[in-house]
Order: sequence, then structure tokens, then C-alpha cells
Amino acid sequence: MLSPWFGVLLVLFNITDAIIEVNVTVGQLGVATGRLDRSKWSQRQFHSFQGIPFAEPPIGSLRFAPPVKVISWKDYYLDAKNFRNICPQTKQPGYDVEGYDEDCLHLNVYVPATNGKELLPVMIWIHGGSFMSGHAQRFKPHYLMESDIILVVPQFRLGPLGLLCLGTEEIPGNVQFLDQVMAMEWVRDNIESFRGDRNRVTLSGQSSGAYSVNLHLLSPLSQGLYDGLSSIGLLNDPNFLKDKLIPLSLKYIGVPDETGVFSQILIEKYFSSSELGDFLKMVPGLIDIGSVLIFKAGMYRMVHENSRFQPTFMYSFDYRGSQTRFGYESVKKYPFDGGVAHSDDYIYLFPFPDNLTEADTVIAKRMVQLWTSFTINGTPSADFVSEWPKMSTRAGPYLKIGTETRVGDNYFYEYTVTIHNKATSLAASLVHCLC
Ligand SMILES: *[C@@H]1O[C@H](CO)[C@@H](O)[C@H](O)[C@H]1NC(C)=O
Ligand SMILES: *[C@@H]1O[C@H](CO)[C@@H](O)[C@H](O)[C@H]1NC(C)=O
Repeated sequence: MLSPWFGVLLVLFNITDAIIEVNVTVGQLGVATGRLDRSKWSQRQFHSFQGIPFAEPPIGSLRFAPPVKVISWKDYYLDAKNFRNICPQTKQPGYDVEGYDEDCLHLNVYVPATNGKELLPVMIWIHGGSFMSGHAQRFKPHYLMESDIILVVPQFRLGPLGLLCLGTEEIPGNVQFLDQVMAMEWVRDNIESFRGDRNRVTLSGQSSGAYSVNLHLLSPLSQGLYDGLSSIGLLNDPNFLKDKLIPLSLKYIGVPDETGVFSQILIEKYFSSSELGDFLKMVPGLIDIGSVLIFKAGMYRMVHENSRFQPTFMYSFDYRGSQTRFGYESVKKYPFDGGVAHSDDYIYLFPFPDNLTEADTVIAKRMVQLWTSFTINGTPSADFVSEWPKMSTRAGPYLKIGTETRVGDNYFYEYTVTIHNKATSLAASLVHCLC
């Protein structure tokens, strides 16, 4: 008597589990078979095409060589239902996935399954990872597919395979960037087959610095602190902290300061005399210095120059959610909480990890609206964001994205934000942990 029910259940199970294929003819390349998928929040349908080769495998005589365009897929039919290999890179405990291979020049295309005939704007997402790690598998589309954009996530050669430069014909260098260019050319030439608008392509991405701002500056010291003994002495040495730490940090991050004047200015701006020499008290200032020198100043300079020529929108991401990229997988090594860290913003654009709290999800929906509206209209907008004005003065305005989103008018405030919020948890938890 059980068997008919069992049969029914089996059929239902198969239906919900079945992969629904979708085929697209892509110009001269061939037919790509993708699959149907659904967005995270409203279960909108979209089509997923993964592991599409846009360049010949860069192996054999093509290793280190500029990428070579694919003219047609090998067997004409391409199974694009799953991710392919990621590019060779150093293992990253915690975030690691298997499947490294030099044959990694693939891209992934995600297309809303809407009926209209209208062409959709395209977002190309360039992943980060210090130019030597990262891959497309982390950038799944389930949040962004809530909006009517096409998402394209390419991979490109990393580390020495992407950047070794001998200035010779065999190893000319910088092929990583040529790979990215070829992926963009692929979009230009083929995205219309996916209903994409080749004239509305927005290039997006996340910093290639795989470490948080704070961690960068503190890195040499924290390594010494937790992995060895020699630096503990230095951190307890007031003379080192007063006289050597800032010049050493500048040297570490590649800022020349031969006369020492720059160090002196930083010391006077970021530390009071009672803090100098006491490592714990110096941490907020060190974080601000690191943030400014490694990220904020360069970013500011670029957007400021850009704003002279075209509408430019600047933001500071201040939302502190349940997830963080602070320290990445090595976070356990640091006996304090890093606040809102480098790369935290893209936690809300991609389900990596896919376990946001309700409060986080509110921010994620807002972020998705802001990013995709910019892709669609060239102007970012979202519910509960009254306006995000374009930059019009030297210092702003800019959007401060947090639990409450508001417009700031002086971005230079962000250069000293940690020392001004010194009483907040970061410094407090550090003191708590280290003492
Ligand atoms: C897609 O193309 C493949 C390869 O030719 C074929 O086996 C499959 O039946 C096609 N699927 C659909 C839904 O047309
Ligand atoms: C989210 O997932 C990660 C990885 O699976 C896990 O380490 C973390 O504890 C989770 N966080 C929450 C808030 O569930």
C-alpha cells in the first residue's frame, strides 16, 4: 500500500530538485546550456551561465602570454551549468575551495528571466584578493538578481601567472589586466545574446587589497606579537613606539619619508603626548593612519579628480553587521574586533556568507538597490535613502551608509574617525583583551 505514495513523493522530489536547463545561442561561439535559479529574497527566476571560456586556456606556450580570444567553443555546445576551475593561487584557510587549474579564464553570466524584449544594463564585477587570490565562485548573484540587471563575473590570472614581468616577448607582464580587458570585450561582443545592453555596461569591483585597512598597518607588528617573541619587546618599548613605529609603518606600506617630516606630522595629528609610547592607546590613531594612507586618501584623490569630469558618488560604509571581513580567515589571530573593515560592504551585495540577520538584510536590500540603480540609471537611489548627491565640493557630499543612512559634507572627517570614536568598542575591547 505504501508504494503509490512513495512514487508520488519521489516524483515531487524530483521536480523540485530537477535542474531546468536553458539554451542560448551566442553568436559564432555556439550554444550555451545554463540553468534556472532563483533570487534570494523574492524568488525571482534568473538564468545562470557559468564557466564560459572567454580566452583560450593560458597553458603551454600561452602561459604568461596575453590572452587569446576564443572564436568558437570546442564542441559548439557548452555545458554552462556549473562553475569551472579557479585560477591557481595561494591557499586561504577557511575561504578555500578546491579545483585550481591554469585553465581558468572563464566568466559567469546571470540574467533575470523576465519576459520583455528590452535590453538590460550590465554589471561586470571584478573580484579582489590582492591581485593574487580570489575567484568568481564567491560572487554568486542571488542578491543582485532581485533587480533587472545582468551580472558578469570574470576570472583572470593571478599572482605570478598574471603579473610576472620580465619585459621579454615570452613574459611581457601584466596579463592579468589584459585578461580583464578580454572579458570586457567578450561582454561587448556577446552580451546581446543574453539580452544585455552592450552600451550600458558598468564596471564594478572590490578592492584588491585582501586585508582590512587596520590589519595592513598593524600586520608586521601583529605577526611578531602572535607568531614570535622578538616584537613583544618592541611593543613594550616606549622609545620604539614614540620614534620608530610610524616611520617603520610608512616604510612598510611604501610611503617614502626620507626627511622624517611626514612621520612627525602624522604623530602630532594622531597621537597626544600621553598616548605616544603606549601601544594600546596608540591603536586608534594607528588604525586611522593606516586607513588613510592605504585606502582613504588614494580613493579620495581618485573620486575628487573624477568628479571634475563626470557625476561621481562617494560613500563611507559604516554599518556594523553580524558578519565581517576583518582579518579574513585569520581573524582569530587578533584579540580585538576590527569594527567596520575593508570589504565589509560587499557582504551585502553577494551571499558570501549567506547568513545575514534580519537587520543585515535590510542593509543588503538597500545596497542592492543602490548598486543596481546606478547600473541602470547612472544615479544611485534606494528606499530610505532620501538622496545621494553627487560630489560637488572638494570634500563631499558623500553618503554615510549605516543603520541610518545620511549625507556627510566633509569626507576628511573620515580621516580621523577612529580617534574621534576612541571610546567605542574597538579600543575598549583591545584593552580588555590584551591587558
Ligand atoms: C539544450 O541543448 C542541449 C545540447 O544540444 C540539448 O541536449 C538540450 O536538450 C537542450 N535543452 C533545451 C531545454 O532545449
Ligand atoms: C555565518 O556563516 C559562517 C560560515 O558558515 C559562520 O562562521 C558564522 O558563524 C555564521 N554567522 C552567523 C551570524 O550565523
